Amino acid sequence: MLVMEKIEQLRDEIRFHLHRYHVLDAPVISDAEYDKLYHELVALEAAHPELVTADSPTQRAGAEPLEAFEKVTHPAPILSLANAFDVEGLEAWAARLGRLLAPEGIEVAGLDYVVEPKLDGLTVVLTYENGRFIQGATRGNGDIGEDITQNLRTLPMLPQRIPVDSKGGLQPPLYLVVRGEAFFPLDKFETFNESRLVAGEKAYMNPRNAAAGSLRQLDSAVTAGRPLTFYAYDIIAWDGVTLPDEQWGRLAYLAELGFPVCPDNAYCGDLAGVAEQYEIWREKRNQINYEVDGLVVKINNRPLADGLGFVGKDPRGALAMKFPAQEKTTKLLDIKVNVGRTGVLAPAAVLAPVEIGGVTVQNATLHNYEEIRRKDIRLGDMVFVKRAGEVIPYVVGPIPDLRDGSEEEIEPPTICPFCEEPVVKPEGEINLYCDNPACPEQLVRRVEYFVSRSAMDIDNFGSQTAELLVKGEFIKDVGDIYSLEEGQLLPLEGFKEKKVANLLAGIEASKQQPPERVLTALGIRYVGEVVARLLLSELGHIDRVGEATLADLEAIDGIGPQTGQAVVSWFQNGRNQEVLAKLRAAGLAFEAVKPEAGGAQSLAGLTFVLTGTLPNWSRSEAKTFIEERGGRVTGSVSKKTDYLVAGEAAGSKLEKAGDLGVPVLDEAGLRALGA
Ligand code: IVH
Repeated sequence: MLVMEKIEQLRDEIRFHLHRYHVLDAPVISDAEYDKLYHELVALEAAHPELVTADSPTQRAGAEPLEAFEKVTHPAPILSLANAFDVEGLEAWAARLGRLLAPEGIEVAGLDYVVEPKLDGLTVVLTYENGRFIQGATRGNGDIGEDITQNLRTLPMLPQRIPVDSKGGLQPPLYLVVRGEAFFPLDKFETFNESRLVAGEKAYMNPRNAAAGSLRQLDSAVTAGRPLTFYAYDIIAWDGVTLPDEQWGRLAYLAELGFPVCPDNAYCGDLAGVAEQYEIWREKRNQINYEVDGLVVKINNRPLADGLGFVGKDPRGALAMKFPAQEKTTKLLDIKVNVGRTGVLAPAAVLAPVEIGGVTVQNATLHNYEEIRRKDIRLGDMVFVKRAGEVIPYVVGPIPDLRDGSEEEIEPPTICPFCEEPVVKPEGEINLYCDNPACPEQLVRRVEYFVSRSAMDIDNFGSQTAELLVKGEFIKDVGDIYSLEEGQLLPLEGFKEKKVANLLAGIEASKQQPPERVLTALGIRYVGEVVARLLLSELGHIDRVGEATLADLEAIDGIGPQTGQAVVSWFQNGRNQEVLAKLRAAGLAFEAVKPEAGGAQSLAGLTFVLTGTLPNWSRSEAKTFIEERGGRVTGSVSKKTDYLVAGEAAGSKLEKAGDLGVPVLDEAGLRALGA
């Protein structure tokens, strides 16, 4: 036998035993026998270093430390989930599904579901080509994540080759992108934290942070020393395989390939079964070795679920049922009033500091004054405070039995504490508003948002600057940011030449921001980054967004009536039109980059799907070629696909393209089209 074959055979055997040990929890050889195999491989590789490959089991912690993580574009958006907090929320979801499916003649009562624990760790996206693990990434913003391949290679239960057991008769898929969750087992967390403290390092706040911190290490040797683990739960892109139509079948397929799949996933024949699982998990969540913050309910029929589309980033075919959050009691010391950028006056509780689920809580929301009245919350009361996931903690209610008579009633403000104009309560709304468009505090909030990182991202423009410029009346609306002058700023306290120059340079540079950021920065209700990008990719120009009717907007997949109405109202307001005019005059980008005919943008506006193995290009090279020329690559063939690029061993996608009449190119054809 050639050395190379011997080495490959050993690697196969070792991977098989790793899977038996770490995934199936059922080893078929002793540790000593395993060690012997492993050392045999180490010795052979040492004698033949030219034969060492990145996916060899010996290389799990062998990679050089990185300078920084590379960015990775996901093949399909890594979506998140809409939340429900109880069985009523589940029923409301089912009722919505019923309305969506009725026109198709489908009854909700006939659906079945998969219920999976919602693992509280870090989403990872794993790419396999021809059965080899070639890339692992974080979720990032859902479209672009970070390449953490080296770190993920250190997880012994994460398959480097699929199927892990090649004797099972399963073919390696040509291309498979798997989504799962990496997490820190609870039984290892306390001891791990103790060892950090002993070593003079900071303890991690919770297992989730420990998982995230462990995977975002530039030196994979650090990750290798952490007891991370992983469960797979979804396939987000594939080629060269036909997947089962059921989520339950897909989980089984993942397990068959050798992925660890959570043993606590459950199949439910109907909605009552789902509700029952939710009940069961109230107790069960405290009895397992990983942290869960809820359950994920998925419609088992995946083509049907996927066909329902999504709202924002949340697919309609799945739902997160969060568990009740942790609750503590503490004293309500004071009420502060905050003014938001829409003028809402929000009461905020100042609390005696209390630790809830690993975080010290000192401020909490009270939502609105109506709620304070309804719950009869008084100043000085002992109150229940709740913290759920990432949301800001809130005051649940008072504990009247603990009152001593010194508590005081809380009166809603009658004037805005910032501009002293009378407060209004619009018909049918529970919120109190400061209705004064010139209220400086509101404007400060709008400016802060406009310059913030998710909007225009203007460097050197902090909250204090926003406040100073608004108070000094240099800024009367966000459009005025672009007419600030050196001469106005220099006399201000603390504004030395350098600071002024930096601020003006930051403002100038922001004029290059793409139109989706400009649209986000306008602060239209419900229009964040994702919606702004969607609106511009559909309509191409901020002015077209402004001209669109409610019906035009609602026709866009992902835009609902609420968002549509908010957009229409915003553009109808004359004051907002003045702001737009100022921004336009300042030269901000309103128009999405237009596809140019020929030249560098030769593929602009075209949508491609890749399938099979191309003779000279890897899949990512082909993707880069298309994207650099303005084209888009998506994961599945539909009527909207302009071309299918097919290589050797193309499977179902080629068939589908044939059915839909989508033209098919080979690699040479793609080069010619892009030239
Ligand atoms: S499904 C489109 N399944 O929960 C489907 N998510 O917002 C979206 N999570 O951070 C996700 N366990 O990483 C799904 N069994 C599971 C999950 C799960 C944990 C996390 C996910 C994301 C969040 C969903």
